[in-house]
Amino acid sequence: MAAPTSMLLTGISELWTLDPALDDPARPGRVTEEQVLHDAAVVIEDGRIAWTGPEAEAPPADAAEDLGGRAVLPGWVDSHSHLVFDGDRAAEFEARMAGQSYAAGGIGVTTAATREASDERLRRLVRARLAEAAAGGTTTMETKTGYGLTVADEARAARLLAALAKCGELDEVTFLGAHLVPGEYDGQEGRPGAEEYVDLVAGEMLTAVAPHVRWIDVFCEEGAFTPEQSERVLRAGAAAGLGLRVHGHQLGRSGGVVLAVELGAASVDHLNHLSADDVEALVATVSRPTADGEGPGLLAVDAGPTVATVLPACDLSTRAPLAPARALLDAGAALAIASNCNPGTSYTSSMSFCVGTAVLQMHLSLDEAIRAATRGGALALRRSDVGHLGIGALADLHVLDAPAAIHLAYRPGMPLTHQVRRRGERIA
Ligand code: NIG
Repeated sequence: MAAPTSMLLTGISELWTLDPALDDPARPGRVTEEQVLHDAAVVIEDGRIAWTGPEAEAPPADAAEDLGGRAVLPGWVDSHSHLVFDGDRAAEFEARMAGQSYAAGGIGVTTAATREASDERLRRLVRARLAEAAAGGTTTMETKTGYGLTVADEARAARLLAALAKCGELDEVTFLGAHLVPGEYDGQEGRPGAEEYVDLVAGEMLTAVAPHVRWIDVFCEEGAFTPEQSERVLRAGAAAGLGLRVHGHQLGRSGGVVLAVELGAASVDHLNHLSADDVEALVATVSRPTADGEGPGLLAVDAGPTVATVLPACDLSTRAPLAPARALLDAGAALAIASNCNPGTSYTSSMSFCVGTAVLQMHLSLDEAIRAATRGGALALRRSDVGHLGIGALADLHVLDAPAAIHLAYRPGMPLTHQVRRRGERIA
């Protein structure tokens, strides 16, 4: 029997379409009443949203499923993760809970273990992590290289991720050779130093990795890369046609925000330590128009706002001051929430946990947090085809095992994912 090409989902208590066509320009970052339907239905056709509206008016379809009074959201768009790694840093985490503070150097521990892993083992680890994310409602995932830090190891990670992206198992791949200056570039006893490593990243390493990635990122922070070094890497990436992303202001006022804004980065992530000027600089980017990129559903990587991406699980796991998501949104910045899944600072890919935390701890309203974890992430990845359920969007749906999305914060830590569809197909 041929697979049905259209599917009607009914029994939806809340349908969060977040349709961009229904945005209120006077309230950017907020969800309007029209963007959440009640007693609704959705029709999926050929992997895309074909119709949404009141259940009583739903058109017929080849197949139908009653969701039993559950809430339906767009799948989470996780715009920041580091999934290519081997090794365990539970002891480092435990020491942190006993009072030690996080420092960038822990990246070196994971780098050593990752370099040792076989290609097959790394692929298996990444796929298992992608499956965990999907099981929690994530349907669009960005992930980074950054635990190889040699030309061969970074190119290997990029190739592995590009192959998974080609099979539709992940979406966006980022080169993060500038994650840490590896130990062999310590400038001691005749060994090369940090500047030589930056030359390598911006030169031979970028050349090897660029064909496999859409983005370049840099950890602009004390103990990692200075603003000058970061700029060198980002400019080389832009010259190679890559979109820019920045890790900044995680451990202090690193200068990453000014750099990201000046260079037109799509996103600057972490943001635990911000001045009023930093916030203003991010807000000023919101008036930059987006532009169409290459390919359907893609926006240009070098146009549009620099999205302020906050990482609630990371802030908890490092006991850092929470990023000021409330103040950023109130000031008018474009906001995203991401998991930052990685072995050092945030070993979770649960976007539901991040959204719940943003409500409970960062004082966002539910609709602000959901929007930041869907539309916000999509903007940070310059994608217009995900993060919402407007007509024509990819049919990426997260069906909650709850009648209302507020349960994400009301019942923290509970298994609230009932079903996940990516491009219309059940993946969890
Ligand atoms: O985003 N800040 C830099 N990179 C990761 C941490 C990586 C690690 O400690 O292994 C982050 O938090």
